[in-house]
Formats: sequence, C-alpha cells, structure tokens
Amino acid sequence: MRVRLQLNVNGEQHDIVTAANKTLLEILREDLRLTGTKHGCELGECGTCTVLVDGEPLLSCLLLAVDAEGTEIRTIEGLAAGPAPHELQIAFADLGASQCGYCSPGMLVSAAALLKRTPTPDQDEIREYLSGNLCRCTGYLKIVEAVELAAQRVAESRAAGEPDPEHRQLSHPTSGDASTLDPVEGKRGSA
Ligand code: FES
Ligand code: FES
Repeated sequence: MRVRLQLNVNGEQHDIVTAANKTLLEILREDLRLTGTKHGCELGECGTCTVLVDGEPLLSCLLLAVDAEGTEIRTIEGLAAGPAPHELQIAFADLGASQCGYCSPGMLVSAAALLKRTPTPDQDEIREYLSGNLCRCTGYLKIVEAVELAAQRVAESRAAGEPDPEHRQLSHPTSGDASTLDPVEGKRGSA
C-alpha cells in the first residue's frame, strides 16, 4: 500500500508518496537522498541511524516514517548552519574523533541533543548519553574529548555574546585539518 506523507526535515517540508511500511531511515536515504544518516544493524543496536525528532535522538531504523508526520526531523545534513559547521563537527575534525566516519553522523546528532540538554557535560555524562552510539574505530576517548571541547567553545562563544554560539564560519581555519572538514559527514574529506 502506498501513502502520501508530509515530512519536515531540516526545516523543509517534503511531500512524499511512498510505501506505507518504510522506515524513516529508508525514506531519508532512498526518497530524500539524505544519505548522511547511515544504515547499520537495522535492529536498534548500533545507533548509526540516529536522527533528531523534535530535538530528541531516535533510531530512524525503528521508526515508521508515517509515525514521524507532524514532527520536526533533523539529520546530520541539518546540523551545520549553511556553510558554518556546528562546533561539534569542528571539534571532531580538530581532535580526530572520526576515523572511518560511519558512526559520526549518529554520534554528532546525539551529541548535539546532549549539549541542548546539558550545555557543559562531564565525561561520564557524555559517555552515558552516547552509550547507544557504537564506534568500532576510535575507542571513544577522542569522541568524548571532542564533545567536551565543543561544549567549552560553545560556552565561550555564548559568554562573548555571539549570535549563534553553536556554529562557526571557517573562513580562516587555524587548527587541525579543519579546512578539509566535511560538514555533512563531520569528518575530514579529501583535500
Ligand atoms: S541501523 Fe538503526 S540502530 Fe543500527
Ligand atoms: S569512526 Fe569508524 S565506526 Fe566510529
């Protein structure tokens, strides 16, 4: 059976005609071509498919798209503000918190939700909040440190009265390989 769906993704309204039994992950990747959200276990165990639904991290492999109507969905493609990456993306690049990068989109959107809820989390809080996002490469330390660093930078920008403390224009990158940051994947691209 086919259905007509209205989905709000990254602030854009989409009118989609699709199979009624498709998951949100399938709609994002196959119908909307938003392939930043990764396809992993499809069992609710790896967290690679995490997106924000009304600001909360949810596993898009377990959510039927029809049940996401009327919500605000944010994917990794919507984490940057235009050309200005989120501080989390910059910190991941600066500290090498992405290796293969497969977990990074889910990790980044989960971390963004954490910083909304707890602006300056300690390492235990970061580990606890990200415990549903598995990474097979990094050993997690760099990821935890990157989230801490991003939180610190956002707090400093907020204290300085920046209009958008979560995002930074990288017109003159000064640290790490931030000049090659891929704002979608949240990892270094090829220069
Ligand atoms: S693909 Fe959704 S939790 Fe693994
Ligand atoms: S960087 Fe490879 S799975 Fe996390």
